Amino acid sequence: MSYKVPLIDLSHINDIVIKNLDFNSFFQKNSFIMGEEVDKFERTMRNYLNEPYFLSVSSGTDALHLILNSLDAKSGSEVITTPLTFIATSEAIVKNGLTPVFCDIDDNFLLNVELVESCITDKTVAILNVDLFGIPNNLKKLRKISDKYNLVLINDSAQSFGAKIDGESTTKYADFSAFSFFPTKNIGAFGDGGGISLKNYEKFRKIDSLRVHGKNFSDYNLIGGNYRLDSFQAFILNYKISFFEEVWSFKQSLADKYLKFFQSIDKNIISTPNISEKIDDLSLSLFTIRVKNGKRDNFKQYLQNLGIETRVYYEKPLYNYQIFEKFQKNLENSEKICSEILSIPFFYGITDFQIDYLFNSIKKFF
Ligand SMILES: Cc1ncc(COP(=O)(O)O)c(C=O)c1O
Repeated sequence: MSYKVPLIDLSHINDIVIKNLDFNSFFQKNSFIMGEEVDKFERTMRNYLNEPYFLSVSSGTDALHLILNSLDAKSGSEVITTPLTFIATSEAIVKNGLTPVFCDIDDNFLLNVELVESCITDKTVAILNVDLFGIPNNLKKLRKISDKYNLVLINDSAQSFGAKIDGESTTKYADFSAFSFFPTKNIGAFGDGGGISLKNYEKFRKIDSLRVHGKNFSDYNLIGGNYRLDSFQAFILNYKISFFEEVWSFKQSLADKYLKFFQSIDKNIISTPNISEKIDDLSLSLFTIRVKNGKRDNFKQYLQNLGIETRVYYEKPLYNYQIFEKFQKNLENSEKICSEILSIPFFYGITDFQIDYLFNSIKKFF
């Protein structure tokens, strides 16, 4: 179905890339695996994030998988995490023989930092936070907790490339940050892609080896895999990062507009996360609201009928999926928020006409 206002429309940003990039120059180099473009991308990301190490990998999922693999944690060790996220976050924990410990979320949809300490046991090895929708969590506090209990702090930044804390990259606080360059993410490739920023040289060497079949100079001493980023994707990403600030500014003013608009709507009917005060630190990939009083599904259908696309990210807390049955919980805020949450159209290049149509349609529902 074609929507008057899609949830995310990549055509504007793709047009810019297609018009400006010299694709011939890339193909003529006949270099498709690692090489110049990948090196350039990793260098650019290190500088942008102000981190000592950055490794490009095949996807955000693989970034998480490799990070957790590199911890060398005993099977059954626990990782505290949020149940409101994409499946990949906890999949990576379980895939590495570790146990996800789901901790409830706060009203900003994020791991509730006030509850994290109560989830720590003598088996805890790490905290895996997610800056969901591009909203940075209180990583300063999570860093303090991690230091106090000697835990590794991992940030799943798949949805939050560009997010900051007091103007500095969120990566500053985490031992590892995982990024996704899936096409609809804040920086998207023309296919899958991911990355890891990290601080520890030994772990950097290990993940660097794991992503190419455990290769260590002329030997293979680990069971790894093929987790490389394609050179072509690096070529696209190198261009996209060059105008990321422009995309980011557009989305910042869009977020500001949306937040102001929702101020005119009764909070008992629709609420937004409480993010106005940290707007400069956001890097939103999705704009997500809560529709109260059991009206979410009706509201979604109403917008759908008007040609406005919305999506529920996410239908249920991860512990309610069959695959995580063993880790089942009943966390009050997570359950409630999953029944109210709705992501609405929000993307670079959305027109004023589309925004007006969206706002007017929302107003008329109530
Ligand atoms: C929070 C989160 N973590 C991990 C991933 C996985 O990233 P990828 O699709 O690049 O594997 C995603 C992708 O949607 C995500 O949203």
